[in-house]
Amino acid sequence: MVEPAAQAIMREYEKYVVPSYARSIVLERGKGTEVWDAGGKRYLDFGGGIAVNALGHAHPAITKALTEQSQKLIHVSNLYYHRGQGELAHKIAAQVGPGKVFFCNSGAEANEMLYKLARKFGHDTGRYEVITALKSFHGRTLGGIAATGQDKIKKGFEPIIPGFKHVPFNDLKAVEEAITPLTAAVLIECIQGESGVNIASPEYLLGLRKLCTEKNILLVIDAVQCGIFRTGTFVSYQRILEGHPQAGSFQPDAISFAKSLGGGFPIGAVWLKTPLADLFQPGTHGTTFGGTPLACAVALTVLDVIEREHLVANIRKQGDKIVAALNAHAAKGAKTLVSARGFGGLLGLQVKALAADVTARLREAGLLVVPAGEEVIRLLPPYNVSDVEVEEALGILTANL
Ligand SMILES: Cc1ncc(COP(=O)(O)O)c(C=O)c1O
Repeated sequence: MVEPAAQAIMREYEKYVVPSYARSIVLERGKGTEVWDAGGKRYLDFGGGIAVNALGHAHPAITKALTEQSQKLIHVSNLYYHRGQGELAHKIAAQVGPGKVFFCNSGAEANEMLYKLARKFGHDTGRYEVITALKSFHGRTLGGIAATGQDKIKKGFEPIIPGFKHVPFNDLKAVEEAITPLTAAVLIECIQGESGVNIASPEYLLGLRKLCTEKNILLVIDAVQCGIFRTGTFVSYQRILEGHPQAGSFQPDAISFAKSLGGGFPIGAVWLKTPLADLFQPGTHGTTFGGTPLACAVALTVLDVIEREHLVANIRKQGDKIVAALNAHAAKGAKTLVSARGFGGLLGLQVKALAADVTARLREAGLLVVPAGEEVIRLLPPYNVSDVEVEEALGILTANL
């Protein structure tokens, strides 16, 4: 039964909020991996704000950063310098490689810069096309839906912005065949999150790098969902290529980030390899709220806590444990679960049922998860999820799947 307080909140939404999302429960407060709804029911949050809440809910360090920075400077325009933006750019570049960072506010907006980069890079030679993967997801702006390799996302919004071509994921030959004299860039997610936690193979990544270098085409990566240590390395290609003899030879030309970077505070970022960053001189690109003192203070805190509290080691361990336990459950002849895959805090569970139904069943049982495609559900726990919480989640999952 829905509580009267929750009913009143839902009625306000029905009357006044654009109905572009399918919502379920009314959430009121959270602490770490736990959240409570308006009726006081507790859930384990393995949905993580769809790969955003890297430190869980109400982390004291985030509260402190928000409070302290808001007492100094919340916002200044990009007509001025402030301490946090340079520091954060430095930290991101230190994780990825020599380059520079542009700040914005969301994943779709970060990706917009990748499309503009492709056009600016190809401009003088008349190239503008971007090859992306089928089943990809790159956001909901007009550029984002054009880049996304899923028809359902474009439907009703035609005419679609020209200049994007889609080819099957993990198929190097398909990319090779799609390249024309108009191609400026290849854009992929190294792990496709929205369409089911589909992981690029090491050979695909290395092959793309070689191909793009040979053809003088940019290789750009959407790490909005799988970046910022979510898979146990800063960017997921580092995890995929871990231990591979050629891992060191792989470096993209640009990478977009958002989601976990702010731990819940909106911030997006694009890293551009040296010297590509210099294509964006004053007047070529910008956004009012990009890299504010408050956003940067929170993002710096998220990165600091991940390091200080050894959360990379934790999320790697928890991800491995969950995948192993669930695959063992599937091997015993589970009724709904087929298999589990993924790394760290980005896991996909292949199920023999509609993902939306499974998500509702698990929610009823006290576990929040997110559908990813028709028959895959995603687990996106915070990086500081505890052993006890993982055991509890595994108990719910094995009892219901
Ligand atoms: C891979 C990827 N790119 C881009 C986006 C869009 O990000 P945002 O919703 O912040 O615009 C998402 C969001 O789910 C995503 O998963």
